[in-house]
Amino acid sequence: MCGIIGYCGHRPAVPLVVEGLRRLEYRGYDSAGVSFVQAGQLSVIRAEGKLSALEQKLATMHVFSATSGMGHTRWATHGVPVERNAHPHRDHSGRLAIIHNGIIENYEALKAELTAKGCEFRSDTDSEVLVNLIAECLKATGGDVMQALSKALGRAEGAYAIVLMSVDHPGTLWATRVASPLVMGVGTGENFLGSDIPAFLPYTRDVVFLEDGELVRLTASSWEVFRADTLEPVAKTVSRINWDVQAAEKGGYKHFMLKEIFEQPKVIRDCLLGRIDPATSQVRLPELDALPVPERLHIVACGTSFHAGLWGLYLLEKYAKIPVQVEIASEFRYREPILDKSGVVLAISQSGETMDTMAGIKLAKSRGLPVIGLCNVVGSSIARESDYVLYSQAGPEISVASTKAMCSQLAALLLLTLYWGRRKGTMSEDSCAGLVSELQTLPKILEDALPSLRASALRLAKHFAETTSFLFLGRGPNFPLALEGALKLKEISYIHAEGYAAGEMKHGPIALIDPHFPTFAIALDDEFFPKVKSNLVEVQARAGEIVALTNEGLDLHVEHPWLLPRATGPLAAFLTLPALQLFAYEMADYLGKDVDQPRNLAKSVTVE
Ligand code: AGP
Repeated sequence: MCGIIGYCGHRPAVPLVVEGLRRLEYRGYDSAGVSFVQAGQLSVIRAEGKLSALEQKLATMHVFSATSGMGHTRWATHGVPVERNAHPHRDHSGRLAIIHNGIIENYEALKAELTAKGCEFRSDTDSEVLVNLIAECLKATGGDVMQALSKALGRAEGAYAIVLMSVDHPGTLWATRVASPLVMGVGTGENFLGSDIPAFLPYTRDVVFLEDGELVRLTASSWEVFRADTLEPVAKTVSRINWDVQAAEKGGYKHFMLKEIFEQPKVIRDCLLGRIDPATSQVRLPELDALPVPERLHIVACGTSFHAGLWGLYLLEKYAKIPVQVEIASEFRYREPILDKSGVVLAISQSGETMDTMAGIKLAKSRGLPVIGLCNVVGSSIARESDYVLYSQAGPEISVASTKAMCSQLAALLLLTLYWGRRKGTMSEDSCAGLVSELQTLPKILEDALPSLRASALRLAKHFAETTSFLFLGRGPNFPLALEGALKLKEISYIHAEGYAAGEMKHGPIALIDPHFPTFAIALDDEFFPKVKSNLVEVQARAGEIVALTNEGLDLHVEHPWLLPRATGPLAAFLTLPALQLFAYEMADYLGKDVDQPRNLAKSVTVE
């Protein structure tokens, strides 16, 4: 999730672009850059690290008079976050520059084709491949940039929002998008492009929302929209935005947490990008091809990431027949664990900076075990310390309470299960393709379900607002989700909650059940349902009130049935998880808590 801004107008472009990038820094950055055309030269200035590094670099340079330009803050997906991978990227002739948010899935094949034609690359990014492909197409369009862009896009597969500039057209920008956000700001004698409205909100509230497959040509005095494939003109309307800057950063949502919960359909799509063979629906994880399938897997993590790892255990053992141990990192590192050299450690960490998890990795490496890092932040400490890295590609997660990151971790663990299951021969090609195909339908199902899930969550939050303690129950892979539901409620609403294996309730917690101690159960249409149902009968026998996440048509009679769309086996988690998150969110919001920055918590726990 990178930050993009473009400007054509009457003001000095460079300071305006940098200011716009600062308003987009919540989209994450590990490097940043600007480009502009001045005195017949196309300049690209980039810096690794925070935006301030770029500002310091620019401050040492001469004043910039260019009145059009573009800028980018990078959230790395391809290539480590160093300056040569920062955007903008120039083509090998130096006459074009591009900024890009997204993933070009077939960039390796395109890179090989261009290399064979003598193109030389200076970075590891897919974006540099795209700008060189455009340059190559330019040769066949007689220098018509828009036609060359259209041709190149016809060969690119994946998700992208791009802005392109040419030294031969100093006052013009071209931009287009597929599955990555891009919006145009319409001013007086000036026009803007941004990956988000905050980029230019101080200058104009008049915006044009671009749709997938639309291409815009922008100058200070004009904007025209075309179909990217046919270049037929497209009529667009200008909308008036009434958000303040804060609301705009949250995309109109009240909190980052709510925005990130609603980003989960996109997160599933992004986690799959480049990892599914379109011809066979098989999973490909080239970053792990050099590692033999583990004989034993030790998953090490904390908090929500630990719950994701525990969920992964159920899948990896069931489908890939790999023995798995899941460890709380702060226990693992002090426990003197018996680690056989045939084992592999999988460290799961959204931030990639959690001290306990890092210590677990160091312990494993000291015992000679290879380590895979499943991280969200590219180039994070845990990613760098690991021997192999699988990125969850969820984009920056701002809210302290982890939501979309867990969704991406579950998706990545499912991909890992299928990938190893196929390599080990424990899964047939058809069974793998079947799960992949259904996983690919989930984003739309979830997109359609989220508004009603939120309404149900709010209704339940109002009903239970006086409750002081909750029991969350689940069996099988729903047990880790019960743990996560309890954690979410605890950490943002400050209501005590316990997640428990439903079968364990009779071994103690049932003593707590009474009319003031409600139970939140996960009772879906799966092999565990009969047993969960009997657990809930025991709860009701003690006058315990029950909320149950369940499916249509099941023989379940509780006070608050909460219906979810059906999904096969492990895929149900992608619908259960957001419901649990929304319940905690609506409860905390209804109680007036600081949802995005709960008391006593930090986004990444870099202390022991
Ligand atoms: C989750 O909502 C919490 N913020 C916390 O438990 C978090 O999951 C844990 O600290 C691990 O963080 P990591 O994934 O960045 O390693």
